Amino acid sequence: MPVITCIEDLRQIYQRRAPRMFYDYAESGSWTEQTFRENTTDFAKIRLRQRVAVDMLNRSTRSTMIGEEVAMPVALAPVGLTGMQHADGEILAARAAEAFGVPFTLSTMSICSIEDVAAHTTKPFWFQLYVMKDQDFVSRTLARAKAAGVSALVLTLDLQILGQRHRDLKNGLSAPPKLTLPTMMNLATKWRWGMGMLGTKRRFFGNIVGHAKGVADASSLSSWTAEQFDPQLDWSKVARLKEEWGGKLILKGILDAEDARMAAEVGADAIIVSNHGGRQLDGALSSIRVLPSILDAVGDRVEVHLDGGIRSGQDVLKAVAMGARGTYIGRAFVYGLGALGQAGVTRALEVIHRELDISMALCGERDVHDLGRHNLLVPKDFEGEWH
Ligand code: GLV
Repeated sequence: MPVITCIEDLRQIYQRRAPRMFYDYAESGSWTEQTFRENTTDFAKIRLRQRVAVDMLNRSTRSTMIGEEVAMPVALAPVGLTGMQHADGEILAARAAEAFGVPFTLSTMSICSIEDVAAHTTKPFWFQLYVMKDQDFVSRTLARAKAAGVSALVLTLDLQILGQRHRDLKNGLSAPPKLTLPTMMNLATKWRWGMGMLGTKRRFFGNIVGHAKGVADASSLSSWTAEQFDPQLDWSKVARLKEEWGGKLILKGILDAEDARMAAEVGADAIIVSNHGGRQLDGALSSIRVLPSILDAVGDRVEVHLDGGIRSGQDVLKAVAMGARGTYIGRAFVYGLGALGQAGVTRALEVIHRELDISMALCGERDVHDLGRHNLLVPKDFEGEWH
């Protein structure tokens, strides 16, 4: 294996190995990509407070998220089309997460199906649901998740309509790729990826194809969302889905204190402060920037998690010290997967864990539970004054 020192090393290998269409899909934000960029640049504005002459032995990053033990407060975020980044991608990522001791979240828009991931793992994983107009399909999907032993439902609230990502349109994103001349020329340079794909039968949206009726083009994420996603999803439907699911519920896509209160009211076990990795409302604030206001609003009532912009253990440290109970990595694990398959996801987790562990020690902390605002140097105007 090449020497991997950081997540950026994995990104570079991933960029060489994955077809452009799928690399661009992961690496894009919507429209001008301002929110996508600020998710990471805002993390860099927060600094860490170094402390010295503190006993550093016996450190622990172990914690819990929604009551489940985690080796560090990091879960794998739901990412659509993961099985197009590398053959059998969701299965490989789920196995890496399981071995490492962190939760894996399977996207509705995955390539490997719920049943397939369950058959190749031994512990329960989390399932992310997009609410569709077809209520039968939603009910069947929930029943499938239950039957597969899924331990938490992650309900995404910020994607009833897809934000426009320019490069997906230009590349003609689809799963599997449609063989246009530019795509074929690009695929010709990605032999590893191609060999993997030839060796698997998992090349379609596994939770959709064969499960949903009357789908005009089941290979296109944008036409599927436009046709099928429920634009009328509201809090009463969220409450009904909670009832129907009956298990642990995490609400994803909260970026506003008012919405956070609604989520707490509905009785969610956790919320994920998220702008969908900058892929939906371009111009929204970064997740780390709004985190303090959400914690002020509901931090005492519901677990608050965060995704968006996490590319290192230092970022995890910052989010947790700010008050998040857990964080999610999406792109960071996809880079690892696209670069080196399951070993790459493991490597991504190891990199982040090591960065978290050592940075924690250099901040004078031995237990992830002791992290707090006292470890951070946050610029006075970090949250900004907005009216
Ligand atoms: C969701 O599936 C996305 O592409 O952001």
